[in-house]
Amino acid sequence: MATAENSILGLIMPTDPRWTDLASVSLEEILTDHAFCEQKAATQCISLIQIYPDKPDLVNALAPIVTEEWGHFRMVWSEMKKRGFSLGRQRKDDYVNLLLQHSPKNLPAGEKLLHRLMICALIEARSCERFRLLSENLEEKALRDFYYKFMVSEAGHYRLFIDLAELYYPVQQVRDTWSLWLRIEEHVLHLLVPRGDRMH
Ligand SMILES: [Fe+2]
Ligand SMILES: [Fe+2]
Repeated sequence: MATAENSILGLIMPTDPRWTDLASVSLEEILTDHAFCEQKAATQCISLIQIYPDKPDLVNALAPIVTEEWGHFRMVWSEMKKRGFSLGRQRKDDYVNLLLQHSPKNLPAGEKLLHRLMICALIEARSCERFRLLSENLEEKALRDFYYKFMVSEAGHYRLFIDLAELYYPVQQVRDTWSLWLRIEEHVLHLLVPRGDRMH
């Protein structure tokens, strides 16, 4: 059953409610994983700018997002330091790896950007949904407020990636490709066991 929030974001599968229970018991793990997610979000935007320097609208849109995502990393890291947590090693990101494994094969060169933007939008949408759950369910009020800010910010990024796709591709093609990715993500979530030490 899709929630109102999910239908705004388009996500097919709501997060298993057990995830928030699990997440609250592994605060150090979830903050660590979140810190790495923010780093990856920043490097993903840098990488898009490096691959598509010939698209000034994309460069203009993503350059400030690099700064914003890096700012998110710094916010999470500072929250971790306050609690005496350490960053630890980066972990395997099963969610993103499975999404990439399920990418359509042999895409024409001209469609690669569209699929990359859709994957970015999807990760933002799912992160936004998880941040909402954390902002509603964590015990500590300061952390609920902390996650509310991330939810708002990642919702804006989800919209930005969809808008960028619509700038370079026909709206119907973007809608069809977005629907395809929503179905891929639904399948990927069925393959993953909800874990309280991961954002996804
Ligand atoms: Fe972020
Ligand atoms: Fe983001």
